[in-house]
Amino acid sequence: MASSVFLAGDENWWRQAVVYQVYPRSFKDSNGDGLGDVKGITSKVDYLADLGVDAIWLSPFYPSALADGGYDVADYRDVDPKLGTLADFDEMMAAYHKRGMRVFVDVVPNHSSDLHVWFQEALAAAPGSAARDRYIFRDGKGVNGELPPNDWPSHFGPSSWTRTTNADGTPGQWYLHLFAPEQPDFNWDNEEVIDDFKKTIRFWSDRGVDGFRIDVAHALKKDMSEPYPKIPGYDETHIPLDGSHHLFDRDDTIEIYRGWREVFNSYDPPRVAVAEAWVPTERRPRYSSPETLGQAFNFDLLITPWSAKKFKKSIEFNVDLAAKSGSSSTWVLSNHDVVRHASRYGLPQKANLEKWLLSDGEAPRLDRELGQQRARAAIMLLLALPGSTYIYQGEELGLFEVADLPGDALQDPMWLRDSGKRKGRDGCRVPLPWEKTGTSFGFGTGGAHLPMPGWFGDYSVAAEDSRADSTLNLYRSALELRKKSLTTESLEWVRSKGTVVHFARPNGWHSVTNFSHRSVRLPEGKVVLSSAPLVDGKLPGNSTVWLQK
Ligand code: GLC
Repeated sequence: MASSVFLAGDENWWRQAVVYQVYPRSFKDSNGDGLGDVKGITSKVDYLADLGVDAIWLSPFYPSALADGGYDVADYRDVDPKLGTLADFDEMMAAYHKRGMRVFVDVVPNHSSDLHVWFQEALAAAPGSAARDRYIFRDGKGVNGELPPNDWPSHFGPSSWTRTTNADGTPGQWYLHLFAPEQPDFNWDNEEVIDDFKKTIRFWSDRGVDGFRIDVAHALKKDMSEPYPKIPGYDETHIPLDGSHHLFDRDDTIEIYRGWREVFNSYDPPRVAVAEAWVPTERRPRYSSPETLGQAFNFDLLITPWSAKKFKKSIEFNVDLAAKSGSSSTWVLSNHDVVRHASRYGLPQKANLEKWLLSDGEAPRLDRELGQQRARAAIMLLLALPGSTYIYQGEELGLFEVADLPGDALQDPMWLRDSGKRKGRDGCRVPLPWEKTGTSFGFGTGGAHLPMPGWFGDYSVAAEDSRADSTLNLYRSALELRKKSLTTESLEWVRSKGTVVHFARPNGWHSVTNFSHRSVRLPEGKVVLSSAPLVDGKLPGNSTVWLQK
């Protein structure tokens, strides 16, 4: 490894960084096999440097059977041969560092793939063996152990238990998987598991990786003692504040991260991390404190309806919360798990997104223009806030969800395992369109692993590059201005109409978002950027303007 892959510098670089999420299989295919790959990511370094992001975060690119889009990891310290090699990875790191961008990788500690060598060993070993203790195996209930140990559902439905088959063909023990059966949960009370993940973090840190995104960070520790409780649901509204849930956000989970912190801090600059932890907001600082992971995703705006009052409340709360925890806030509108926000904002507020997907995006009708306007306004608002912003690939093009993917093209275990009740997340994972035409719009030369709709051409990088008022060019201008305007991590609210969110940063950078449909008077100041053309000197509905005073 060349030493040039390491990027020195300010150890607080992450506090207000803009991080671009790359979903590797859908970013850029360099070898025409229909799957995005590591060389594809390297080939787009100029694109991302010109976009103006500070870092990229790579969703899993590790060896995987893709039972859950790569979140089923068969080997934590290698590159999936379908996506490249470790040498390709080093080359990619060097290219991004050379252009001054940092790199985050995803760590998936709650579960491995069932193809992981440890799980294969566990299956071959006897009940009660050391090999089985790395996972969560239990005897079944019923006369012959034919019933699962309990009725906990999996996130992808229906049960979170799968029965194994013994070497002699007889039915064996059951193992726990909070996600797909191909994703067995680790036992985080096992020392080997604890040590192995530290090894993984060192492995990638030694290769120059700057940061880690921690998948389902709140699920690692479990209370598996009997009697098993009933678990009504898995979203954070069901998680109590006292750390007493049997599966999520248990108090001792953060002990794991204290251990990781020692590893992070043994590097110069210290490696950083961001937790994906769907916990009640009050509990988020446990994951984002400087003694644990340092930062945690704040998904609040992602689930906040388009309302000035609600946005303001959420921003106020989160800026405060981040300050209390010693972290900086993160802001997120989209990622690989949710319906793209250009679509969410173009649907009626109360629309049921799962039903909308099942109707192939027909009912209710999507108002594309409105969705686009709001998405443009929203990103400008986010980028003006103190803290860091996470951008999901394709949102800079204003991409909508591909809601009409045919059932036989879908790959998401949510669809495959839940008897077609939920279409799942493939609609936001369709490969990126780089060119206006071609079978896969420049994604690659050999088609794409998910069908790309005809309208993608108009939203391709090539199409938007040449349109001054495109969403891509808005992102570029906003990111460039943001870089120049960065200031201390605070904001002051400026009095405004109830349908307007207006705040100022300490250096006189103002952001004004009009959430209503009617134009509003522009506050004083020099207009530096606007998400929509001003009309007679007024700020139109569903738009944001930045002013300098
Ligand atoms: C996280 C990932 C999601 C994945 C799940 C299981 O929520 O973001 O894509 O399915 O964890 O690993």
